[in-house]
Amino acid sequence: MEFVFLKHHVLFGLVIWATLLPSPGICTGPCSFPAIFNFGDSNSDTGGLSAAFGQAPYPNGETYFHVPSGRFSDGRLVIDFIAEGLGLPHLSAFLDSIGSNFSHGANFATAGSTVIFPNTTISQSGASPISLDVQLLQFSDFHTRSQIYRTKGELFEKSLPKEEYFSQALYTFDIGQNDITAGYKLNWTAEQVKAYLPYVLTQLSNAIKKVYGQGGRSFWIHNTGPLGCLPYVLVRFVTDPAQINKYGCADQINEVAQFFNQRLKEAVIQLKKDLPLAAINYVDVYSVKYTLITQAKKYGFENPLIACCGHGGKYNFDRYAKCGAKKIINGTETLIAKSCDDPTVRINWDGTHFTEAANKWIFQQIVNGSFSDPPNPLKTACRCS
Ligand SMILES: *[C@@H]1O[C@H](CO)[C@@H](O)[C@H](O)[C@H]1NC(C)=O
Ligand SMILES: *[C@@H]1O[C@H](CO)[C@@H](O)[C@H](O)[C@H]1NC(C)=O
Ligand SMILES: *[C@@H]1O[C@H](CO)[C@@H](O)[C@H](O)[C@H]1NC(C)=O
Ligand SMILES: *[C@@H]1O[C@H](CO)[C@@H](O)[C@H](O)[C@H]1NC(C)=O
Ligand SMILES: *[C@@H]1O[C@H](CO)[C@@H](O)[C@H](O)[C@H]1NC(C)=O
Repeated sequence: MEFVFLKHHVLFGLVIWATLLPSPGICTGPCSFPAIFNFGDSNSDTGGLSAAFGQAPYPNGETYFHVPSGRFSDGRLVIDFIAEGLGLPHLSAFLDSIGSNFSHGANFATAGSTVIFPNTTISQSGASPISLDVQLLQFSDFHTRSQIYRTKGELFEKSLPKEEYFSQALYTFDIGQNDITAGYKLNWTAEQVKAYLPYVLTQLSNAIKKVYGQGGRSFWIHNTGPLGCLPYVLVRFVTDPAQINKYGCADQINEVAQFFNQRLKEAVIQLKKDLPLAAINYVDVYSVKYTLITQAKKYGFENPLIACCGHGGKYNFDRYAKCGAKKIINGTETLIAKSCDDPTVRINWDGTHFTEAANKWIFQQIVNGSFSDPPNPLKTACRCS
């Protein structure tokens, strides 16, 4: 009797002890990430597409940088707030040859990037040729060449990351949105788009494995947002008003985004098995953005579905006259797609991207890990060893 009781007690104690232990991939102390390497599309492009194909024009950048800064927003993006949150400088775009400093990381994202290499040129479809596979080639090259150059003088040493940063860095991913819209641009049905997505997710998983192969250990992966709430999607892909829900979003397109997210979540579960030394954080940005858009008023925002910067129509969005578009009127070049009076109370910036105010709100929701799986705050998103 006595013995059995004791045995129970010990077992019970063991169970408590085991549950108190951090599960693999969760850290209790801060990680001190010395660098960030980012891969993605316009949601996190800090100047890549602008460097290669021309600057995102004014009024992009008007709120924070006060000049066009390579970002499709009036100010900072979520990736900028992530960098600030980790005490690191904003990321320079790998492609930007002016004023770049890569000592604490590099950004390989470009606006219009897809996971899968595009079939079409940027002038045909808007798809960036810098798809995820190209971003990885650039990263790999950056890794090798940065270490060769660091020995070639102080300027290089001060503007390129140390070798150990590659294993200590946070690797962030925010990509997939343009693979979904690529299907819609080909007039695919929702079912056809869904049938294509497992291939996209396999390639995304392979990309993460390649980074792991180069020493990357900490990953912060954003899922894709509610595309069906974006003016550019509503204007271009939604012809039947019956598809619009009470918040003004297209449910069917959001369902495809959620399908992508469900598969991404499954892919991350598999990656955790395949990459035992990695800490992989899946971040549900979809839910944060959807809450913000559908409950805008509650959080101090207005007109969640209307572009702040744009021109004409129900959504202040015209894909032939996007934010910053100019037209010659009576011999004078005039800005026709202008900014709204107060971007700080708006969510949608240009029909596709978010305002700085919205990006800041989104960051504040995700930074403490309440939308992450596992629920790691940003500062402890590494693996402790
Ligand atoms: C790429 O091109 C092939 C051949 O034309 C086509 O079947 C396929 O649907 C295209 N895929 C995408 C994503 O554009
Ligand atoms: C790059 O930034 C780092 C940190 O902000 C700074 O210490 C370094 O001097 C900069 N490099 C150059 C070449 O200015
Ligand atoms: C998609 O449909 C639209 C409208 O019917 C048409 O103008 C366009 O050429 C189609 N695009 C493709 C890639 O088939
Ligand atoms: C352009 O000039 C015409 C003739 O002077 C004038 O009627 C019109 O209002 C002008 N348009 C704009 C947008 O200034
Ligand atoms: C995370 O931060 C958000 C926004 O500040 C807050 O609403 C939420 O309660 C926080 N969650 C946790 C688990 O601390």
